[in-house]
Amino acid sequence: MFNLNDLLRDNIKKLVPYSSARDEFTGEASIYLDANENSLGSPLTKWYNRYPDPLQKKVKEKLQEIKGVPAKQIFIGNGSDECIDILIRSFCEPGIDNILICPPTYGMYQVSADINNVAVKKIPLTPAFQLNLPAIEDAIDNNTKIIFLCSPNNPTGNSLVKEDIEAILNNYFGLVVIDEAYINFSRYRSFTQELSDYPNLVIMQTMSKAWGLAALRIGMAFASEEIIEVMNKVKPPYNINQASQELALQALENVDQVNEMIREIVRQRDELEKNLRQLPQVLHIFPSDANFLLVKVNDAKGIYNFMLEKGIVLRDRSRVELCAGCLRITVGTASENEQLVAALKSYH
Ligand SMILES: Cc1ncc(COP(=O)(O)O)c(C=O)c1O
Repeated sequence: MFNLNDLLRDNIKKLVPYSSARDEFTGEASIYLDANENSLGSPLTKWYNRYPDPLQKKVKEKLQEIKGVPAKQIFIGNGSDECIDILIRSFCEPGIDNILICPPTYGMYQVSADINNVAVKKIPLTPAFQLNLPAIEDAIDNNTKIIFLCSPNNPTGNSLVKEDIEAILNNYFGLVVIDEAYINFSRYRSFTQELSDYPNLVIMQTMSKAWGLAALRIGMAFASEEIIEVMNKVKPPYNINQASQELALQALENVDQVNEMIREIVRQRDELEKNLRQLPQVLHIFPSDANFLLVKVNDAKGIYNFMLEKGIVLRDRSRVELCAGCLRITVGTASENEQLVAALKSYH
């Protein structure tokens, strides 16, 4: 059975979190002399002299509306990368516990685990880039605290089969993290509406992709209130700065505009795929539910360098497991994609 207390590290169970000035007083006052801020202002026209809301309440209220997840079940991190690190640090005892990942996948699960001296069990995806359930089952041991699944997956672009994810959620009692960074470009639905069925489920999303706000560093985790409480306890007190909170809130008022960008990116993805297919250098294009294509070419290194000379940067994934000969190409604007295809045509 799933029991959050059994999963948590002992030091985190006992942790007395830092209590900031803005935690201890949350109302409105006319004079703030509690946080050692500079009451005179700042050199900027807009001041930013006060510490931001440590729990980002306004942003979460708006996210609750958009995502249909209660604010108390939302954590906001300095990018999803902070969510990954906080989960590993809260649940995995360095040198003892492990996480499980399914490569090829997003690199930060491994890096965060390495930083925290947490072992990583790697069960590669099948050649169809799906979960190898029997191998995952065999690999899990009593110290496997978190399984990271990425759907749609980076760098392969495909979504994992929903029933496979559910099989893990139903039979494994550690945390199952589904990284949905690219979910807005997918034809499949997010797992957010299934949170109430699975106390061990954590879903990560980000404003870096569909929302076009990679520079603001806003990542989200959706989970049970208990898991979110742990993450809030462990995070740095003011992890999301005031400017990012304000701009995120402003962006969240414009869902329609974002939906239009998503439709355009998906249109461009399909168009780019069609055009790339015509080229003799392109051997295979993997189906994508994301804003990029994994493309197998006849000379990955040569094409990568050639494109670089033309001022076009791609991601060479040819040394990644199961991605031999592959480049990862982000979908750009219509004009960027045309320039990409024209440059590729001139490669011999
Ligand atoms: C699968 C996946 N998760 C998370 C991230 C990082 O998200 P963030 O910018 O919110 O840290 C990326 C970025 O490329 C990604 O591909």
